[in-house]
Amino acid sequence: MTNDQMQLFGGSWTEQKLAILAEYLSSYNTALKKQPFTRIYVDAFAGTGYRQQRRSRSRMPDLFQETDQDESQGFLKGSAKLALETEPAFHRYIFVESDAAKVSELGKLGQDHPDKKGCIQVIQSDANAFLRDFCTNQSWVGARAVVFIDPFATEVEWATIEAIARTQAIDVWILFPLMAVNRLLSRDSRKVHRSALGRIFGTDEWFERFYQTRREDDILGQSFEKVTKAGDFDRIRDFYLERLRGVFAKVAEKPRVLCNSKGSPLFQLFFAASNRRGTAAEIAVRIASHLLENL
Ligand SMILES: C[S@@+](CC[C@H](N)C(=O)[O-])C[C@H]1O[C@@H](n2cnc3c(N)ncnc32)[C@H](O)[C@@H]1O
Repeated sequence: MTNDQMQLFGGSWTEQKLAILAEYLSSYNTALKKQPFTRIYVDAFAGTGYRQQRRSRSRMPDLFQETDQDESQGFLKGSAKLALETEPAFHRYIFVESDAAKVSELGKLGQDHPDKKGCIQVIQSDANAFLRDFCTNQSWVGARAVVFIDPFATEVEWATIEAIARTQAIDVWILFPLMAVNRLLSRDSRKVHRSALGRIFGTDEWFERFYQTRREDDILGQSFEKVTKAGDFDRIRDFYLERLRGVFAKVAEKPRVLCNSKGSPLFQLFFAASNRRGTAAEIAVRIASHLLENL
């Protein structure tokens, strides 16, 4: 295959996810700009600020091709860079990343944004550990935040989500790993990854949701318990939505399913708002729902 046969691939689930995030950040800052809050953006799985341009073997035209310089050089903007470009701006940017090389790249983002240099913190940490500490120790009296949770797979623990909900000051976007969780729910119930699923859902109730137990007779007429998997992508989504509703003030009821190029669901993008005072959560969810359902 020649280079000419390689086409830039656009319109992927990554683009959808980032387009929704970028629009939300701008709406959020516009809505809060006259209020006396310090607005903080927290990117808990920040990457480098850029992502490598993906190439596809297909001849599909690149519907989402953009023309700015970064992209012609083979890089597209990642969430941290998009957050820095948001107008109106945030007062603080916290970029968390566990990989040392990526942390070093994140450290360079301030060079393109000299006006924001003093507002950017780059932290090398596990996202769960950082977020729990941040949610507990940040004073929320005069501060509000948007947290973006964008893991590769099943890194995010339920205890972290609960810590975010308790602040009553954070709006959160969660990229939930549908396909990875579906794989943890093995067909053979004896091989299920119980501890990982317990960490993700924060309860053992998932077992009754995703497995059906019934008694059957074997050929000798002996009764035995048969356990079959009943969990599918829709049930996984519904269960996580129910878990979020249990701890957040308000949750977007139609999270966006993000599929790979073959149409298989990879992730579900959820939004939840934690502020139980006044109408803040309602407004936030209205904006997020509009983006999830229309963008
Ligand atoms: C999907 S990528 C993030 C992409 C980024 N949000 C963007 O738009 O460019 C996930 C990132 O999380 C980092 N990571 C993986 N496990 C982590 C953890 N436990 N805590 C913090 N970062 C982690 C990976 O090194 C990777 O850079």
